[in-house]
Amino acid sequence: MIPILINSIEEMSTICRQMIGKVGFVPTMGFLHQGHLSLVKEAKRISDVIIVSIFVNPTQFGANEDLSNYPRNIERDIKLLTELDVDYIFFPTNEQMYPNDFKTWVNVDKITQVLCGRSRPTHFRGVTTIVTKLMNIIEPDFMFMGEKDFQQLVVLRQMVKDLNFKTKIVGCSIKRERDGLALSSRNKYLTKIGREKALCLNKSLLLAQKLFNENIQSSDEIIAQMTDLIEDNEGVIDYIEAFDPNTLEHITNIVSGSRIALAIVIENTRLIDNIKIN
Ligand code: PAF
Repeated sequence: MIPILINSIEEMSTICRQMIGKVGFVPTMGFLHQGHLSLVKEAKRISDVIIVSIFVNPTQFGANEDLSNYPRNIERDIKLLTELDVDYIFFPTNEQMYPNDFKTWVNVDKITQVLCGRSRPTHFRGVTTIVTKLMNIIEPDFMFMGEKDFQQLVVLRQMVKDLNFKTKIVGCSIKRERDGLALSSRNKYLTKIGREKALCLNKSLLLAQKLFNENIQSSDEIIAQMTDLIEDNEGVIDYIEAFDPNTLEHITNIVSGSRIALAIVIENTRLIDNIKIN
């Protein structure tokens, strides 16, 4: 069945208010890949009605980031979501989401200033604001988010807890290409050579796990070896960091359950990835 396409906030709210059964919501910025589709599949497993939003949220892009180039292909997205029997696709306009007199921001403190927040200081404020708006419009029972954006997941869980949202966030594992590259809409920017180089993200995370298995626990030591591997592949390091998965606090001694995340620029494209060490 073709999903019902809705671009009016009012119409989406009205429909959602009358919905019967558990509502599963997958927020996206479109240009869908198997990672997004795995979220939809997980949503279908535990919800009765599936809503996917497609909105390239301008407020989460910094001034020099890729908002205007961000890949879009709504026809293809609709086709993919039709194949998965999604019930509704919500794709509001910028003007509706951010009218001229828009003045309110949702901000989660501290954990938005570390990791990606250091080089993208306004990014998470944009994410938390748009997700709040989407959750208020849709009022879903479940919201599905990928672990590739691990910090985003932690930030949104904190927001949902602090602001008493009724929605439960379901975190879903990272989806990868056969060769290990984490799926991302931004992979599209890479040339063939760049894509090859980009494998160093996953390779360096696997190296970290290997070193941990060999009883190396010092994050400095592990990160030094990851750094060499990435620099050998001409990756420009934004950060590589080991942290506690709940607090996102930097750790010097890696234990089972710790996360290591990185952001690496390959051919001007900033890519992120992470691993749970165990
Ligand atoms: O992860 C994303 O695609 C975006 O940050 C989200 C959650 C859809 C908000 O714009």
